Amino acid sequence: SIPIFTTIASYRQWRENAFRSGESVGFVPTMGALHDGHLSLVRSSLRENDLTVVSIFVNPAQFAPHEDLSTYPRTLARDLQLLEAEAVPTSTKDERKLSAVFAPTVTEMYPSGIVLNVTEQKGAFIEVKGFSHQMEGKTRPTFFRGVATVVTKLFNVIQPTNAYFGQKDIQQALILKRLVKDLLCYYPSPERLHIVPTARDPIDGLALSSRNLYLTPDGRKVAPTLRKALVAAESRWNQGATKQECIDAALAEVEACQTKIAAEGLQVEVRLDYIEMNDASDFSVLEPTTTPAGKFTILSGALYVDKTRLIDNILLGDT
Ligand code: PAJ
Repeated sequence: SIPIFTTIASYRQWRENAFRSGESVGFVPTMGALHDGHLSLVRSSLRENDLTVVSIFVNPAQFAPHEDLSTYPRTLARDLQLLEAEAVPTSTKDERKLSAVFAPTVTEMYPSGIVLNVTEQKGAFIEVKGFSHQMEGKTRPTFFRGVATVVTKLFNVIQPTNAYFGQKDIQQALILKRLVKDLLCYYPSPERLHIVPTARDPIDGLALSSRNLYLTPDGRKVAPTLRKALVAAESRWNQGATKQECIDAALAEVEACQTKIAAEGLQVEVRLDYIEMNDASDFSVLEPTTTPAGKFTILSGALYVDKTRLIDNILLGDT
């Protein structure tokens, strides 16, 4: 079975051995409650590295005081089972295997302690300025500070040759790419931070997410609305429509869903947080009259299904 490191010191010994033997280390940071999206990152790492490390750590610093830290799903035993299943070599030639799980305590990761209220925090934190207040950062203004801080710490511990992040959280992945570039990181270097496509429900396209576990049966039924709205906007964009026309097409999908909920008497409330189109290089909001120009653009959104906040995105133009 896979070794589980709960202390930084024990992991570091293991990493020293990998340095000595010249083996590459792929790293997949997670908060657990693993699903096929996480596992697709693990598979990428297994393919491209001699050794693979998965971290499981629910990071308090990225939750605001009113958010779901205490109820965030914690399913460690099942997570380990899923990872063990991935670790089985698929052929006799395929000896690359899952090598370690890093599952530290909060005290281990935050030696100066951590409180959720940002104004009361003490100690070292990382900010990626100018990129953390748009899109997800508008509703969650301290979220990326928490993510950048914990991922910096994790990189300092794991010292990965390659690291893997999901397109599902595209702003997070692009911010972390900038972080390793700006902080001159070498483990991993910026070009070794990889972005893996979003894994979806094969039938209705819902982006896989640990938070999908919060959904009621009726909530699960209407949850693909966000994906549908983004696809509607994308297809208008591909027809040459302006940004405003694309957003209107997306909003029409959300309204259609609300109409359906009322007509069928479903026990669920759906509320759009945002759907927006942003330049991927600086996250600036596209002007309403913008038309397709081949520029790398993020079409993204967030939707509340009851109290669960779901996110998704589609990348447009030259990625
Ligand atoms: P978590 O939400 O557990 O996600 C861990 C990784 O899995 C992230 O890189 C995320 O983008 C990726 N992921 C989630 N759902 C996915 C899907 N449907 N398809 C592909 N990849 C998917 O993101 C975090 O944890 C945290 O912010 C973390 C980076 C671990 C820092 O605490």
